[in-house]
Amino acid sequence: MAIQIKTLDQLKLMRKAGLVVAGALDLMRSAIAPGVTTLDLDAIAVEHLKKNNATPSFLNYHGYPNVICASVNHEVVHGIPNARPMVVGDVISIDFGAIVDGWHGDAAISVGVEEVDPADKKLMDVCEESMWRGIGAAKVGGHLTDISHAVESYIVSQGKYGILREYGGHGIGTEMHQEPHLLNYGSPGGGPELQVGLALAVEPMITRGTEKMKVLSDEWTVVSSDSSTGAHFEHSFALLSDGKPFVLTAADGGRERLGALGVEISSLLA
Ligand code: MF3
Ligand code: CO
Repeated sequence: MAIQIKTLDQLKLMRKAGLVVAGALDLMRSAIAPGVTTLDLDAIAVEHLKKNNATPSFLNYHGYPNVICASVNHEVVHGIPNARPMVVGDVISIDFGAIVDGWHGDAAISVGVEEVDPADKKLMDVCEESMWRGIGAAKVGGHLTDISHAVESYIVSQGKYGILREYGGHGIGTEMHQEPHLLNYGSPGGGPELQVGLALAVEPMITRGTEKMKVLSDEWTVVSSDSSTGAHFEHSFALLSDGKPFVLTAADGGRERLGALGVEISSLLA
């Protein structure tokens, strides 16, 4: 399938989906505490979808059983919510997608349960900042792997982290996963040209150790093969006709974090 280019009206619908995702992730972040389970977080997301007349992107996707992915500590992505109570120091990665009027939003955060190991805190901070640098590197007329390169070079500048090879970002629109696939590493200047109306999910996944992963017998949960802690952040953004990006799944459209990188966001979806 070719890359799907969205009109401004279509991006307005994607913004609605993005705000549902942002709202749910905020609620889940606030709920994280010792004793809470990842199934409790899933229930919060279900409730939020209902309230907003939205539907889940993940439920039944290739048979996926829940509305969120929740990956704890050495689980990096695609963890299935369960009844294990969180404990102080856990790193919880939550991935969530919602559909409004047929248009998807997809985002993820990693959150520590109260006080975490400082090296885990840095892992999360590096992962999140690499995502913002990736989005900030996306320019109309530039190329897809400009994003990949910005993500990777920031991570590498911060220390020795494993960057997952088999998983990456993706186009997003009337399906959660569209072309193009977006690697979190590589040289700049490659892949399709970035154009107005393109929407992409940028989602670095890194560990404190290896880039090598294993999939558990549940056929979903991706864990680091050296059991090192993982982190995952994701936002969906679009390039607008004023040539500027807008982060569909960020409450402020990315104004603050992209602004800090000297990148102005589009005013067309505000
Ligand atoms: N949201 C994930 C991604 O960012 C996909 C989740 S897999 C699912 O690409 F099966 F849970 F949907
Ligand atoms: Co995604």
